[in-house]
This record gives sequence, structure tokens and C-alpha cells, in this order.
Amino acid sequence: MSHDNNNDEVEDKLYGLLAEYESPGALIEAARAVRKAGYTKFDCYSPFPVHGIDPAMGIKPTILPVITFTAGCIGLIAAFFMQTWMNNWTYPWNIAGKPLISLPMQIPIMFELTVLLAAFGTFFGMWGLNKLPQMWHPLFSSDRFLTASSRGFFLAIEAEDPKFDEDATAALLEEAGATEMETIRYKTSKAIRAIPGGIKVFMIISACLALVPFAYIAKKRASKSDKPHMHIIPNMDFQTKNKPQTASDIFDDGRASRLPVSGTVARGELKEDDHLYRGKMNGQWATKFPESIVLNAETMSRGENRFAIYCSPCHGLTGDGTGMINQRADKIGAAATGWVAPSNITQDTFAKQPHGQLFNTITHGARTMPGYSAQIKEKDRWAIVFYLRALQRSAHSTVDDVPPGAQPPR
Ligand code: HEC
Repeated sequence: MSHDNNNDEVEDKLYGLLAEYESPGALIEAARAVRKAGYTKFDCYSPFPVHGIDPAMGIKPTILPVITFTAGCIGLIAAFFMQTWMNNWTYPWNIAGKPLISLPMQIPIMFELTVLLAAFGTFFGMWGLNKLPQMWHPLFSSDRFLTASSRGFFLAIEAEDPKFDEDATAALLEEAGATEMETIRYKTSKAIRAIPGGIKVFMIISACLALVPFAYIAKKRASKSDKPHMHIIPNMDFQTKNKPQTASDIFDDGRASRLPVSGTVARGELKEDDHLYRGKMNGQWATKFPESIVLNAETMSRGENRFAIYCSPCHGLTGDGTGMINQRADKIGAAATGWVAPSNITQDTFAKQPHGQLFNTITHGARTMPGYSAQIKEKDRWAIVFYLRALQRSAHSTVDDVPPGAQPPR
């Protein structure tokens, strides 16, 4: 039954015995018998996954999930430390007084890296556990074995198995219902096991091509160009549409946008209350807060929160004008170019300004300070004014401002 390899120059080596079975059921039975007889170095081959073959062969559950889980954990932890290191250590940047190490902000990257490394762990772990890539296998020398990918059910026992004995093993396979049997011999020549030339060329070419983007980036970084950027998807970059405030010859007046009918007010935008919306009472700056603004701890902390986000970058968390933007301006010597420093808004001048005037400053800005009406709703503007009052008070506070019971001993 020995297979002829058509090869005289290279010595044949015994790989083992290959037996073919009629059906998936027969294969399972055979695997059970072989396992029961004490063989360990054998494998089953079928055109499709055969349910129940693993326990029949005594294959333990794969450790792949452990690899996936470990890789995922590494991704999670790496993302956390990478971001903490960058945001807190190498490039700390105070954004509106938010903490430098902030978990919510880190979650998207942590999630992404977890998924990425878990996927890599699964993919490459599977290759590693299956000892892939494998270009050649001794069983490939059998023509019959080629049907393992279409209709054949095979079981092969390796000669290296301690229990292997050509006659006894053959008898066992026969008894287990083998329809065909074959002794597999293979050539010991190295050439047959080498990676095929075509694949080698492919690998070398793709490795070279993979370097092209890096070379391109390196070149772009080291050189200058006065040409516009490359447009990879031009019909997304240049769309035939009218943007706001652009010209168009469709209409007589040459504008792309139509003006609303005169007197149009958007729903909910009829802002008649002068006090609430403009900070004025009888034409004067309001000295009281509007009635709809409840002056309680909740409004105070809302004001603190909005102040930290919208005002602290310039005015600083305490309002003294030393925000990050001003620190940066000092650092690069912006004063020489006409930089106007943010005011210290805890000063007496501003402490004496009526509530309405501060509200108006937030709405429309003041000289070089821009207005924040687009970003901050009226209610929040009033909350900021409320909080600003607290800042101004605390900037000039004395021990007497502390409740009697809580004062330190003098
Ligand atoms: C982009 C930086 C910047 C931000 C953000 C900013 N300010 Fe100002 N603010 C300034 C500058 C600069 C001045 C001084 C303007 C000048 O004198 O030309 C100023 C002045 C002021 C004044 C004094 C106005 C006056 O009457 O002289 C007040 C009050 C004030 N800011 C409050 C606020 C509040 C409240 C916020 C948050 C909603 C805020 N600012 C956000 C830059 C900023």
C-alpha cells in the first residue's frame, strides 16, 4: 500500500499511518478507539468541522480565550497609562480647569485599544497555537489525502507515537472501520519544505511597499511645498452647495441665503423681559437678580462650573486674570504685540458694577473680550454673575467672614 513518491535521490522517512473512514460518525468512533488504545500523537482531518470530534480525540478546550482576555487587559491598561502619561506628564494642558487625569475622557481610547489588542491576540494567538503558517506537511505527499478538503474523513497516527507499531496500529485502524489505509513516507529533503518562491517574492515586495507611506511622511516632514494639499476625495472637499454668507447669482440680490420675512421671531426667542435677557431695569443696569433666578447653592455651583469652563481659561479659576491663556501670552511675550491681559475681575471696580452690567459683559463682551451669548444661555450667565460675586467676596475676605464657630484660634 506504500505510496510511491517518484523520488530516488532523497531518502524516504516514515511519517505514520493514514486511514480513511466512510462518514463523520465512523471517524468519531475511530478516534475514540485510537484514544482508548493509548495513542497521543494522532489527528483527524475532515472537509468540515465534525461535531463531537474534540472530546472523542481527548482535545482539551483551547486556551485562546485566555490569550484574548490577557491581550485585551494589556490594551486597557496601556491606554490608561499612555493617556495619563501624555496628558499629565509630557504635555499637561489645563482645559477650562478640568482635571488632568480624567477617566471619562480616556474611555474611548481605552475601549479602542482593548478591542484592538484583543483582536490581535485572538488572530495571532490562533496562528501561534496552530503553528501556522505551515507551508508543507508530510500528509501532502498522499494523493488520497487531498480529498480531506472535499469528501474524505481521515485519521493519521504518527510514527513518533510511543505506542506506534506498523502492524498493530494498522490492525487497530482496520478494526475501527477504516475503508482505506496508507503508510505515509516523506522526503527528508529541505527543498520541499521551503516557502515557495512566489510567496517569498510576494512577502518581500509587500514589505517594501509597506515602507512607502513612512518614506512619504518623512519626506513631507523634511521638505516644504507651496502647492495646495492633495485631495484624496475631491467631490467631498468641493461640493456644489451654497454656504451661509456666500454669493449666488440665482437671486437678484446676489446672496445665497434668503432673509427671513421682516419681523420674524424664532420659536421661543421672543425675548421681551429686559431684566432677564439684557440685565436692565427701567433702562438702568439691574442691581437685582431676575426673579426666575433662584439664588441657592445649586445655582452657585452651576455658576462655578460654567465659570471654570468659559471664563477660567482667560481670567483664571479665581478670577484674578492669570488663566492659562494669559500665562501662555506672558511666556511668548505677547505684551509687545499689543496683548491686552484679561482683567482681574475680583477688583473693587467690578465688585461695584451692578449685576446687570456684568451680565451684559458676558453677553456682549467688553472691548477686546468677546461676548459669550452664543455659548452660554441667559440663566447660566446669571449663575456666573452670582458665582463671580462669591469670587469677589472671597478675594477680599478676612477671618471675620468665617462663621464664629469655625474661626481658627487667634
Ligand atoms: C478669551 C479670553 C477671555 C474669556 C474666555 C473671558 N474673558 Fe473676560 N475679559 C477678557 C479680557 C482680555 C478683558 C479685558 C478687556 C479690555 O480691557 O479690553 C476682559 C474683561 C472682563 C471684564 C471687565 C469688563 C469691564 O467692564 O472692563 C469682566 C467683568 C469679564 N471679563 C468677565 C468675564 C466672564 C464672566 C467670563 C466668562 C463668561 C469671561 N470674562 C471670559 C478676556 C476673556
